[in-house]
Amino acid sequence: MLILGIESSCDETGVALVDASGSATPRLLGHALHSQIEMHQAYGGVVPELASRDHIRRVLPLTDAVLAQAGLPLSAVDAVAYTRGPGLAGALLVGSGVACALGFALGKPVIGVHHLEGHLLSPFLSADPPEFPFVALLVSGGHSQLMRVDGVGRYELLGETIDDAAGEAFDKSAKLLGLPYPGGPALSRLAQQGDPLAYKFPRPLLHSGDLDFSFAGLKTAVLTQVKRLAHAHPDGPALPHLADPLSAQQKADVAASVQAAIVEVLVKKSMTAVRQSGLRRLVVAGGVGANALLRAQLGEACAKAGVRVHYPELHLCTDNGAMIALAGGMRAQAGLASADEAGEVDYRFDVKPRWPLSDLR
Ligand code: KG4
Ligand code: ZN
Repeated sequence: MLILGIESSCDETGVALVDASGSATPRLLGHALHSQIEMHQAYGGVVPELASRDHIRRVLPLTDAVLAQAGLPLSAVDAVAYTRGPGLAGALLVGSGVACALGFALGKPVIGVHHLEGHLLSPFLSADPPEFPFVALLVSGGHSQLMRVDGVGRYELLGETIDDAAGEAFDKSAKLLGLPYPGGPALSRLAQQGDPLAYKFPRPLLHSGDLDFSFAGLKTAVLTQVKRLAHAHPDGPALPHLADPLSAQQKADVAASVQAAIVEVLVKKSMTAVRQSGLRRLVVAGGVGANALLRAQLGEACAKAGVRVHYPELHLCTDNGAMIALAGGMRAQAGLASADEAGEVDYRFDVKPRWPLSDLR
């Protein structure tokens, strides 16, 4: 069964074609992505209306490109999967509208996919796919969650952030340092030149005994530290950006120290979740899963504990259409999508900008 997947929940338009025939592990036949990062960079963050308009411009040319890569006509598609939520309402409407129109035109079913389920299942497209059950650390720009995953659609929330997500902590700290949006990759690059022990930032809820996260205090601590360094400089207050008076080394030290704090909390809580669950597998997904320090430290901790850790391919860590096609395909294989049902298909769509994963069946 060939599933076309469309992702448009935020600032990336992603389209992909996945083969999810029978009960075999799904295979990626083609994928294309357009990132809007450059367009939003001038504003320091995502401008929702610009995002929607750009999705409209990109989605059909990307679909053509994916079909050309796979060497297949549109009529070969058996079902169209799209991100139904969570995300920006206008952006979600573009992908949903196009997916349902394509499905209607082709007379094929459509599958509304939960964006986080896409991230969660994305390691199944890697060279080293996991097996159920596993613990999942889901760390994106909007979410930080630990979950127990027993199968497709069988997700139990173990812990989550009570305020900012890990990606948000990266992005906000990066902004305070004057780095371009999105801050995570820029901050982790800068951190390579810095000393992670230079500044002692808080490790929120590290010893709370539960599996919840809190990252909002970290941003305040970074702000306080950057202000302290800036005010120690004679021209500090006169410069346009708060971080301008900091030397390159000071900025790199702040970046390395904040990254160390975020990563230590993520690693410690993940290992606690694995221990408490009694499972021997950990899956890491979402944009922050691309972070090299997180991968290194989790790799070390998991090796010590005899736990196998799985990641999506690096280019499928951040938002993409492949994970949406994959999740649609795995839902269909598990009998959880209407894709294999005969009869009337309903092409009316409603997006779900706010949609807890725990509400998913
Ligand atoms: O999963 P994603 O692409 O989008 C959402 O669904 O939110 O995640 C984006 C987040 C952003 O906060 C970005 O700064 C962060 O992932 N990110 C990183 C890295 N690459 C992306 N954070 C730290 N290190 C990275 N290498
Ligand atoms: Zn995402």
